[in-house]
Amino acid sequence: MRVRFKKVDFRLIFGFLTFVLIKAGLLNHINWLLFLLYAFVIALASDYPMVTSFVEGAKNEDLKKIREKEFLEIINGYCNDDVVKKMDEFFQHGNTTTLGHAVNVSWVCFLINEKLNLKADEKELIEAALLHDFYLYDWHTQNPYGKLHGFIHPEIASENAKKYFNISKKQQEAIKSHMWPLNIIKVPKSKEAFILCMADKYCAVAESLRLNKLFGLRH
Ligand SMILES: [Fe+2]
Ligand SMILES: [Fe+2]
Repeated sequence: MRVRFKKVDFRLIFGFLTFVLIKAGLLNHINWLLFLLYAFVIALASDYPMVTSFVEGAKNEDLKKIREKEFLEIINGYCNDDVVKKMDEFFQHGNTTTLGHAVNVSWVCFLINEKLNLKADEKELIEAALLHDFYLYDWHTQNPYGKLHGFIHPEIASENAKKYFNISKKQQEAIKSHMWPLNIIKVPKSKEAFILCMADKYCAVAESLRLNKLFGLRH
């Protein structure tokens, strides 16, 4: 009897192994390179950009459009806000701006939650993802914290998001823990936080490699 695996099974396995790899490292350059290489292999292993294909299973094209419209309705209010728009003045990874990165991470969060049926609070998740790097400086050129930027910016982003949009406690915690495991003591404690943490890594790799489209990102 021929055993057939669904694509999503491979992705879950890849996702889990990626998680283990992240947990094992990111604190030295060799692990970073392994992770980049690994993510690249995952992308190539898919016959279509990995994350966008998550929604390919939807039988109904109209349903996909409706769901995408719902996603855009959640983010549009933020993207048109003058303070949030400032994120578009700074680069995050490669040639992706911080706002572009924020939209990418929100989109990947939305798709992961949808396809894996994780039942995280969609609105809270997308909002937290959109504001997770809401720190308003270019970390390459205007970084006031030097090597501590990776540890400090989640706190700043959370404070800004609370100040301008009065986000919930759960969203604040999700933003604060998005750099785990770099910041080893800030462990994601909710489904939303964990999805955000994983989606951020995925987008960071894709954007750093400048393979946004191949990885199914929006910007
Ligand atoms: Fe970040
Ligand atoms: Fe980020």
